[in-house]
Amino acid sequence: TSAQIGVTGLAVMGRNLARNFARNGYTVAVHNRTSSRTKALVEEFGHEGDFIGTETAEEFVAALERPRRLVIMVKAGEPTDAVIQEFAPLLEPGDMIIDGGNAHFADTRRRERELRERHGIHFVGMGVSGGEEGALHGPSIMPGGPRESYDSLGPMLEKISAKAADGAPCVTHVGPDGAGHFVKMVHNGIEYADMQLIGEAYQLLRDVAGYSPAEIAEIFRTWNTGRLDSYLIEITAEVLSHVDAATGKPFVDVVVDQAEQKGTGRWTVQIALDLGVPVSGIAEAVFARSLSGHAKLREASQGLAGPKAAPLGKEEAAAFADRVEQALYASKIVSYTQGFHEIAAGSEEYGWDIDLGAVSSIWRGGCIIRAAFLDRIRAAYDARADLPSLLSDETFAREIADAQDDWREVLIAATRQGVPTPGFAAALAYYDALRASRLPAALTQGQRDFFGAHTYRRVDREGAFHTLWGGDRSEVSA
Ligand code: 6PG
Repeated sequence: TSAQIGVTGLAVMGRNLARNFARNGYTVAVHNRTSSRTKALVEEFGHEGDFIGTETAEEFVAALERPRRLVIMVKAGEPTDAVIQEFAPLLEPGDMIIDGGNAHFADTRRRERELRERHGIHFVGMGVSGGEEGALHGPSIMPGGPRESYDSLGPMLEKISAKAADGAPCVTHVGPDGAGHFVKMVHNGIEYADMQLIGEAYQLLRDVAGYSPAEIAEIFRTWNTGRLDSYLIEITAEVLSHVDAATGKPFVDVVVDQAEQKGTGRWTVQIALDLGVPVSGIAEAVFARSLSGHAKLREASQGLAGPKAAPLGKEEAAAFADRVEQALYASKIVSYTQGFHEIAAGSEEYGWDIDLGAVSSIWRGGCIIRAAFLDRIRAAYDARADLPSLLSDETFAREIADAQDDWREVLIAATRQGVPTPGFAAALAYYDALRASRLPAALTQGQRDFFGAHTYRRVDREGAFHTLWGGDRSEVSA
């Protein structure tokens, strides 16, 4: 017998993905650099389906039916290149190497081109979201690579993927070469922003409204029955209601408050800077994590003065919590607006032709940012595929209009109490800047022309102009 799919790299993500394929009836060849892991997988989970345990790269490749489908689940970066170099010479034209790690899309573009040109191999950079549980029970899958590879691989991915509430599989061919990993990257950027906004909501409920973590957990549980219904809100309630066994304190109070990151959020911002896309909410989320990690700097700043405002009384707390829900929801609309803008810009830059409605559709299940909200984004793109921005959708625009007074009030309270809310504030600034009829960018242009003769355009005439600032201040055509 031969295997329909192979998985090499059997750390937890690779192992769970292999089990998912096997549980769905596929024969799966498995391989790992140290073969003890391969043996352990077959021993422990062999009863779940058909595995072919292999020791050498040659055995692994020989176990696969043609065209071969070989999934690599190793660390992004050099380990991925090393595995590709090991296997590529053993493969034939038309075989597929599928990278399910969190690779940088630029690496994926390079690998796709090299493998195509040198070996005729189809390289599929595949974003996989949902953590360990998702990999096993159904992740959201974002494959890029050549279209024809999806014809052969797609049906298998559709089987193992998460299903949205309407039954649709959470996988689609995102676009050629690096499109899948690009979309996974932005997914993670949005994940960072969502987490930051939830963190700000939590801090406000605690410091301004005076709620305990357990009470805040209940508030999040209530929110989770409404329009904020999402995996991240759900797990936030779980984390906040958890009590540390050793001390009896709320778990959240015994965890060191320094957030780590592995890089995908940072990439989202770096690439957005290159593409000129304002993803201020995602950027604030990344910066908030790095600020939290500057332990010495924070220690040195403990004596800095803060405001003297008193927290709210108990009677006002519940109304404030409702306002925070509005602020969180409005800020969330803005983060997704920014994230989808980045995907649209990447698609344009690299000629990927990404269907934004399809992206929102495959994020409805399986992934970390899965949420009822994604159905609304899907509906917005269904109603108008060429939507210039999510904020141009009537429903979202109306919801923000309804939320904005509370959103502003929450930021006023945060400012008055000295609670940092960079995510809420950046989102509101983006919203206000977009709807402004005039921006101080005109003044920026004047300054640039003053000190560097960088020229400016006029509102009333075509062309580029320069004012003779050092002379008689007359205007010349540049
Ligand atoms: C997912 C997650 C996952 C990601 C971590 C990164 O979609 O399953 O996005 O792929 O690697 O969540 O998190 P950090 O950068 O916070 O470590």
